[in-house]
Amino acid sequence: MEVSHSPFPVTRRPFTISSTSGDSVEIIFEVVGRGTEILAETEEGQSLRLLGPLGCGYRLNPGNWLLIGGGLGAAGFPGLAASIDCGLVLLGAASRDRLLTIPGFETVTITEDGSSGRKGLITDLLESVQWDSFSSIALCGPVPMMKAVIGMMPAEARANAQVSAEARMGCGWGACEGCSVPKAGGGFLKCCSDGPVFSVDSIDWERWEGIHHG
Ligand SMILES: Cc1cc2nc3c(=O)[nH]c(=O)nc-3n(C[C@H](O)[C@H](O)[C@H](O)COP(=O)(O)OP(=O)(O)OC[C@H]3O[C@@H](n4cnc5c(N)ncnc54)[C@H](O)[C@@H]3O)c2cc1C
Ligand code: FES
Repeated sequence: MEVSHSPFPVTRRPFTISSTSGDSVEIIFEVVGRGTEILAETEEGQSLRLLGPLGCGYRLNPGNWLLIGGGLGAAGFPGLAASIDCGLVLLGAASRDRLLTIPGFETVTITEDGSSGRKGLITDLLESVQWDSFSSIALCGPVPMMKAVIGMMPAEARANAQVSAEARMGCGWGACEGCSVPKAGGGFLKCCSDGPVFSVDSIDWERWEGIHHG
């Protein structure tokens, strides 16, 4: 979903639909720049121009799911968890105030400062995961976090893992190529129209991490 508010920002900003109810959609967002600042300043009853839903979401395969989210990367998990057989949710964040809650599902949390759950990184929670009890995995968060998590997955789990990618977006429908994500084997995927959800192995993680550090 994208939200527009004139005269600034010129381009819309992409957000995940966190959950839906009747004709309402919920988004969960944090203020990081001017666009989200404007969004946070909107008042009840004010109109916004939205474009969406756009792109491809998680493939809702049958079987037991493991959800792994870093910070606001878990914004789409409430709706996802309600649509699948969700066995376990692992959530990590820098601190308690940046940690999402997914009510109604078994959730284990960890924070870098220890203000909620264990103190540490989400990868610390993976040591006790029984990977073979899950037939699908959903993963979302910052690129270095996702790369570290994938590095700890056995091959079979990795083959069943889907990631929700984040890239800066211009148009939102495949025209500007501003949202390119490096594709395994060469070339690029468009986050807005090929994704944002991709199978783990369709992404060239080395190149993508290089772009983020570059
Ligand atoms: C598919 C998708 C779904 C998203 N879902 C959510 C959501 O549910 N909740 C939420 O809070 N945010 C979400 N985001 C991120 C959100 O779009 C950005 O935070 C927002 O566009 C920032 O706009 P701004 O004008 O406030 O900040 P800007 O002034 O545009 O940027 C502020 C800072 O944030 C960085 N930044 C902005 N956008 C991104 C991005 N996409 N990836 C990495 N760094 C970025 C910039 O480099 C800059 O340092 C999503 C992004 C994508 C691509
Ligand atoms: S945002 Fe323009 S092609 Fe994806």
